[in-house]
Amino acid sequence: MMRQRSVSLVLFSLILFFLQYCTRTSGQSPAAAPAMPPPTTPVKAPPNAPSQAPSAQVATSPGPVDVGKILQKAGHFTVFVRLMQATTENAELNKELNTTNNGITIFAPSDNAFSSLKSGFLNALSDEDKTELVKFHVLPALVSSSQFQTVSNPVRTQAGTGPRVTLNVTTTGNFVNISTGLTNTSISGTVYTDSQLAIYQIDKVLFPVDIFTPKPPAPAPAPDLGKPGKAAPGAESPTAPKDISGALTPLILIHNNALTLAVSCMVAAIFS
Ligand SMILES: *[C@@H]1O[C@H](CO)[C@@H](O)[C@H](O)[C@H]1NC(C)=O
Ligand SMILES: *[C@@H]1O[C@H](CO)[C@@H](O)[C@H](O)[C@H]1NC(C)=O
Ligand SMILES: *[C@@H]1O[C@H](CO)[C@@H](O)[C@H](O)[C@H]1NC(C)=O
Ligand SMILES: *[C@@H]1O[C@H](CO)[C@@H](O)[C@H](O)[C@H]1NC(C)=O
Repeated sequence: MMRQRSVSLVLFSLILFFLQYCTRTSGQSPAAAPAMPPPTTPVKAPPNAPSQAPSAQVATSPGPVDVGKILQKAGHFTVFVRLMQATTENAELNKELNTTNNGITIFAPSDNAFSSLKSGFLNALSDEDKTELVKFHVLPALVSSSQFQTVSNPVRTQAGTGPRVTLNVTTTGNFVNISTGLTNTSISGTVYTDSQLAIYQIDKVLFPVDIFTPKPPAPAPAPDLGKPGKAAPGAESPTAPKDISGALTPLILIHNNALTLAVSCMVAAIFS
């Protein structure tokens, strides 16, 4: 039993070694970038950081509204505006406003909402998650403040529908309350309304379950090979135990797949 285990260990190290060799040799082209998933968050963050031009927005034609400009004028949404610009959601929204028949509603988190988050919180999010976070604050329909009383839950956001992006709006007394399962807050003011755009202020960032709880396991077996490496940075997530129990059974599968991969890799290396 013991010996079998250590043989298995040696075999596994060998496989890892060859896999590493393999990814490295095939890593000369930029197309190989997905082969190194572990450092995603730290590496991806910097390219997003240089959004040092918040006031560089040029005045477009006087006709169409510009969500970013409206929020900038309001004065206390600078972080959200920067986030919308960094994810190009601002341009996206302005384009949609020009063509929509249903209008758009935005729950805009104030600067206070962002300042109560951990520092570096936004930078730690992947570009994908940042985009989803912005979309989660946008409803693809105009909802006037009186219509909140009759809205049916869960409310559809631009982040989609389903249990991982649930957003409920309920009214009690004068409060319009928003709940995502992770965040409870209330609308604290109306920033802007016209015939197709409504912007409401909220003082918390709305967290969708989708970004802040582990994703369901991906069906493809191959990318799972990255998991041993990914486990370390993922440890920051408070739900590590769930991952581990799920990862134990497929280990044998990974083992066999890795062996096949490593062998083809060695063959490829020899003949290249
Ligand atoms: C809005 O749509 C019109 C035509 O439908 C187009 O000419 C104009 O460039 C659009 N404006 C923006 C800001 O997309
Ligand atoms: C709605 O929000 C207000 C203020 O944030 C809170 O006092 C109230 O309990 C909330 N109502 C519900 C049903 O959550
Ligand atoms: C949202 O509303 C739906 C329907 O009323 C309910 O089933 C669900 O539990 C609610 N979720 C949250 C997070 O409030
Ligand atoms: C949100 O409010 C509901 C009921 O009002 C409560 O059960 C739930 O624990 C709250 N969630 C958070 C994250 O505060």
